[in-house]
Amino acid sequence: MRPRGSVYRCQQCGFASPKAGTCPDCLRTSGEYVALVEEREAPARGGRRASSPATRPTPLRDVLVEQGDRVRTGIGELYRVLGGGVVRGSLVLIGGDPGIGKSSLLLQAARALAQTMGPVLYVSAEESPAQVKMRADRFGIIGDGFLLWAENDLSVVQAQLDDVKPRALVIDSIQTVFLPDLESAPGSVAQVRECGARLMQIAKGRGIATFLVGHVTKEGTLAGPRVLEHLVDTVLYFEGESHHAYRVLRAVKNRFGSTNEIGVFQMTEAGLAEVPNPSGFFLAERPVDAPGSVVVASLEGTRPLLLELQALVARASFGTPRRTVLGADYNRVCLLLAVLEKRAGLPIGSQDAFVNVAGGGRVVEPAADLGIVIAAASSYLEKPVPGDTVVLGEVGLTGEVRAVSGLEVRLKAAAQLGFRSAIVPRSNAEESKALPMPVRGVATVSDALGILFPE
Ligand code: TYD
Ligand code: MG
Repeated sequence: MRPRGSVYRCQQCGFASPKAGTCPDCLRTSGEYVALVEEREAPARGGRRASSPATRPTPLRDVLVEQGDRVRTGIGELYRVLGGGVVRGSLVLIGGDPGIGKSSLLLQAARALAQTMGPVLYVSAEESPAQVKMRADRFGIIGDGFLLWAENDLSVVQAQLDDVKPRALVIDSIQTVFLPDLESAPGSVAQVRECGARLMQIAKGRGIATFLVGHVTKEGTLAGPRVLEHLVDTVLYFEGESHHAYRVLRAVKNRFGSTNEIGVFQMTEAGLAEVPNPSGFFLAERPVDAPGSVVVASLEGTRPLLLELQALVARASFGTPRRTVLGADYNRVCLLLAVLEKRAGLPIGSQDAFVNVAGGGRVVEPAADLGIVIAAASSYLEKPVPGDTVVLGEVGLTGEVRAVSGLEVRLKAAAQLGFRSAIVPRSNAEESKALPMPVRGVATVSDALGILFPE
């Protein structure tokens, strides 16, 4: 057996090697040379004796589920994304770019939790108490039952828990706290993993609802890695364009509820405000009867969200045509533009194409495919799509339009905002009855073009 001591670990994927060098896994998967960083192995922890186990297998029907385990957060949008409240003893990771508003969100959540649950301990390992207090004052937060602590050493925090007895704990951020018995620097994979594991013990052992803030690297993964995502109960991402006021909280993993739920907030001087009707927000500045603008009804979890897609297709000024995509998947858009050219005969291969989701929104669903295709065609043909029409459908490589889920809820939401007709996949149109607006079913991209832009 290798003597205990150093290991060399990749800070991106967690690959460990006894020798220094670069990470072979990252080289294979992404072609990048990532240097391995030396880490001291954590001292062995005493395992439990197998002869006196603290846990044992239980018949499923005898498992106790405590009632009243969920607590309302006081913030409806957060409550929704968590799957219906904060669960006692749960470990929640909130990831996002620096400056997106994670600390602000948790500050507001902590205030609300202090009112409903009991004492909340906010460990601020990045900002001084004065900085947090200044923001709290600006947001009008008066901290009853809200304890603030600027401390980076997690073992010190743990030692104080018996005195403080918090019902909820916020660690801001997991990359700046550390355990002193590990020699690696805060933010390294080893520290993040061990701190995460320690907080898991604390959360489960004491029944404290624990929130971790995690910064995201520029590659878009949680820095100090996926190990945390496996460990925690719930992973939420807080996202948005830095130049836009709206923020979306998205569940990507949730042991206590469905994922794909989103919560929408608006940034204000006085903190984050909930946006109960996000569709109205996104469509507020929509140009009427402008070529290249299409509204799609996307479904985020159980909630329909209307978004405006915009495309600008223009003759390439020189060389290779450019494609620029904001708010949608770049490769998906390229694929859809190719389908439009090849299957519907629109010669846009030689054109520059820009696609954008208005208001800084984001589409992730294939149900928005047909909307993207139609927006591009509308811009190319210089013909607008009727302002009261929504477009829905997944597009396949042969130009076929495929069914989408939840047609009724999507159209209901559209009807509430004043839309009067819809282009939908034919298979959907045939099986649905009693839809809230007249629909035209289409089987192919060409069908849709024929209806919207007759010769
Ligand atoms: P902050 O919560 O510190 O971001 P993060 O913790 O993700 O790095 O927010 C960044 C800045 O934006 C901070 O100076 C406070 C400000 N802010 C507002 O003024 N209003 C808001 O609604 C939010 C979310 C942030
Ligand atoms: Mg912060």
